[in-house]
Amino acid sequence: MTQQQFGRDMFNDFDIDDPKFNEHFTDVLDAFVAKCPVARSNVGEGYYVINRYEDVRRAGQDWQTFSSAKGFQPNRPEGLPYLYPEESDPPYHDQWRTVLNPFFAPRAVAAFEDQIRADATELIDGFIDRGECDFVADFGAELPGRAFFKNLVDVPVEDLPMLLKAMDTGIYGPPDKRADSFAKAFGYLGEHLAKRKDNPGPGDLLDAIAAGVDKNGELCPWEDRVSILTDLTLGGIATTTYVMSGAVHHLANNPADRKALAADPTLIPNAVEEFARVFPPVVALGRSVTRDVEVAGTHLKEGDFILLNYASASRDPEAVEDPSKLDIYRDGIVHTAFGVGVHRCIGSHLARLELRVVLEEVLRRIPDFEIAPGKSPSYETGVLRSMTTLPLIFPVGGSKGA
Ligand code: HEM
Repeated sequence: MTQQQFGRDMFNDFDIDDPKFNEHFTDVLDAFVAKCPVARSNVGEGYYVINRYEDVRRAGQDWQTFSSAKGFQPNRPEGLPYLYPEESDPPYHDQWRTVLNPFFAPRAVAAFEDQIRADATELIDGFIDRGECDFVADFGAELPGRAFFKNLVDVPVEDLPMLLKAMDTGIYGPPDKRADSFAKAFGYLGEHLAKRKDNPGPGDLLDAIAAGVDKNGELCPWEDRVSILTDLTLGGIATTTYVMSGAVHHLANNPADRKALAADPTLIPNAVEEFARVFPPVVALGRSVTRDVEVAGTHLKEGDFILLNYASASRDPEAVEDPSKLDIYRDGIVHTAFGVGVHRCIGSHLARLELRVVLEEVLRRIPDFEIAPGKSPSYETGVLRSMTTLPLIFPVGGSKGA
């Protein structure tokens, strides 16, 4: 049935990298939730995809049975270095989270608000007098990198495009190019971290990463510390863009929501949560099964690889009423966009802060915008998803009276 609808049998022969999944994204997710609690892929060594909210939650919380230690990408490319803390299990995982968490706590990231607002302002200044922009290139791809580099790791902002490209190819590129591309990011960030190791700073995040943690009774290897910085950078620069762009796309097409948020910015935090639910940058991340176990009637064996489909779980009607509707006023929003269990997103408070500030500034400066006539956004999808273009038009100067 899905063969006819999507040009591929998504239930029995899924491929997360297939452009048809990118094209029919929400329809495939909804079909999974409705009819296929566990989908099968035959790509490479094969894998399963767990799709419903309760099953994703249960598996995500059971790290002993669903281990991250063998990586989050299915058919992990040969030679790809492991990304920590993501691709590790407790107790090593927890050693790192204990050291890293304080730098990402709500109170710690609140101190970044003024800088994030200044960067949002500068980026908007760059295009507001043109009366048009590509919201992704001119804003959405830039802002999260600035927020992460300027406030947390002191990487020169000029190097952001190079790192974005390396991460992009590492995630969405041809599988045989992914390892080399990630290696480039590792190499660059390793040099950056080594400088800090030689010249310790004020006890910030970089110092904490450079100092390392205990691994099996010894100080962890240097490569693990570079890996920590690389994983944080990947999360910091490659995810929030999609929520931001998805939100702006929705607001371009829904003037009532746009006007409501512009008129009353206190509505924005709730809307941000709904945008994260509906525009999930982390589609599905993998785990290796460590013992025979059954999920929703499917028998999984030790050694099998599964994906936790966070994107579909957030669209499960058992958890969310009328899930395909984007409702900025929705009460008590439930979603799995930031994951569940021990790997729950460390950057969620920073992401929420960025999204709130961005929507406040965009709506304050440009209260009316729409999709450029004849244009539509484009997307890329693999284990992550992002928007690649979003052509907008608006009055020159931002508002009709400007
Ligand atoms: C809207 C933006 C974001 C979304 C939707 C998101 C989503 C997620 C999800 C679903 C996970 C769980 C992975 C798993 O279960 O294997 C995760 C983990 C992670 N995220 Fe985020 N993320 C976002 C922003 C960020 C930011 C801004 C950072 C860093 C500054 C970040 C850094 C990380 C890291 C390092 C992990 C691994 C945590 C661990 O393994 O303990 N993320 N994120």
